[in-house]
Amino acid sequence: MGDSLLIKNAAQLITMKGHSDKPAVRSAMSDLDVIENGAVYIEEGKIFEAGPSEEICAKYEADKQIDASGKVVTPGLIDPHTHLVHAGTRENEYAMRLKGKTYMEIMEAGGGIHATTRATQEASHEELYEQSKKRLNKFLLHGVTTVEAKSGYGLTLEHEMKQLEVAKKLNEDHPVDIISTFMGAHAIPMAEKENPEPFIDRVINEMIPKAAEQKLAVFNDVFCERGVFTPDQSKRILEAGKEHGLIPKIHADEIEPYAGAELAASVGAISADHLLKASEQGIKDMAEAGVIGVLLPGTAFFLMAEFAHARKMIDAGVAVALSTDANPGSSPTISLPFIMNLGCLKMGMTPEEVITATTINAAHAIGQAKEAGSLEAGKKADLTIFDVPNYLTLSYQYGMNHVDTVIKGGKPLVVGGQLQ
Ligand code: NIG
Ligand code: FE
Repeated sequence: MGDSLLIKNAAQLITMKGHSDKPAVRSAMSDLDVIENGAVYIEEGKIFEAGPSEEICAKYEADKQIDASGKVVTPGLIDPHTHLVHAGTRENEYAMRLKGKTYMEIMEAGGGIHATTRATQEASHEELYEQSKKRLNKFLLHGVTTVEAKSGYGLTLEHEMKQLEVAKKLNEDHPVDIISTFMGAHAIPMAEKENPEPFIDRVINEMIPKAAEQKLAVFNDVFCERGVFTPDQSKRILEAGKEHGLIPKIHADEIEPYAGAELAASVGAISADHLLKASEQGIKDMAEAGVIGVLLPGTAFFLMAEFAHARKMIDAGVAVALSTDANPGSSPTISLPFIMNLGCLKMGMTPEEVITATTINAAHAIGQAKEAGSLEAGKKADLTIFDVPNYLTLSYQYGMNHVDTVIKGGKPLVVGGQLQ
C-alpha cells in the first residue's frame, strides 16, 4: 500500500474542486465545495480521494490516520507574492512613518527598498538562507505550503542572482514550495536616480537573460510607480522578460494611480498586484484580459493607506487572490490568515471569497493550479487543518493562529500548532 494517510471526521472539508483550469471569478469565488464530516485519503504524497468520511473510511485503509473532529480542513494556503529572501528589518522607518513621514519620502531619501538592498548586498548566501528559512518556518506554522518569492533587493547582477540562488536552495531543502520571481526592477539604485537608463539596460541585457538561462525564475516583476519605473520603462522590462520566457507580473497602482492595471492587461501579465489606486478602466481591462488581481491588504493596513477595492474588482469579473506581500518595509508579516481577516473587514470580501483567494486563485496567480490549491485526485497532498468548528470562524476570530496541523506532500509537518 505504500505511504498512505487518512484524514477523517473533519467538521468541514473544503475541497475547492472544479477551478483548476481557470481561476474562479464572480459567484464562483464563493464555490468552496464544503463537505460536512469529510475525509481525504492520501497516497504517495498525493491526494487520492476526498469525500464524506463514511464513504472514504469504508473504502480505504491507511498506514496513518488523523482525526480532524471539530476542525476545518482546507487546501494548504498559498501566498502568491512575497519578498521572502532579504536581510534585516526596518522598524526605524516604521517609527518615522508613525511621526508623519511617508513611505516614498523615506525611500527617496535613501531608506526604504534602498536600506534593505544595502543589508541584502552585504549579507552572505548563508546569512540570507538562515534568515529566510526562519520566515519560511513561520509561514508553515500559519498554514502556508507554497510561496512565491521575489528578488529585488540585490539590484546588481551578482546580488540579484544571490537572492534567487538562496530561494532555489531553500526550495530544495525546505518542505514549503517556492516559486521564484526575478524583480531586478524593484528600485533604481540611488547613485543612478538621475539617469536610470544604464540600470534598465543592465536589467534587460544582463540580469533577465541570466535569471532565465539559469532557470532561477519563472516570473518577471517590476515596481511600476511614480518615482520608480514609468509605465513605458516597465513595459520594456516586461517585454524583455517575455523574450526570455519569463511571465510578467506588476506591482501596479500601489501608491498613486499610474495605469499599472492597464499595462498588466496590455502585456498579458499573469497578475497585477497591489492595485490600491487602480482605475475603473484598468479593472475592466484586467477582467477582459484575465489578469489576476493579487491584493495585499497588509500593505494598506501597515502604510495606513486606502484599501484596494476588492468588491468592485470581483463584481467586475476580476479573479482575485490575496497575499501577505511579506517584506520588511510595507508589510512585515507572514500571516496569511490575518490577510484573510483584512480581506473581509477592509475590502468587502466574503469569508468564502477570501478562502478561494488564498487557495485556488492564489495557485493560478503563480502558475501552480495543476499541482496545488485544491483537494482533488492527483494534486499534491498539501492541507491545513484549522482548530475552528467552521470556516466562518477563520475570518471572524482574528489576530490569532488557528492552525493545528499542516500536511505537506502527505507528511504532517506541523502538529498541535508545533513544527515537527
Ligand atoms: O510590494 N512596492 C514595492 N515593493 C514592496 C515593498 C518593499 C519594501 O518596502 O522593502 C511592496 O510593497
Ligand atoms: Fe511586493
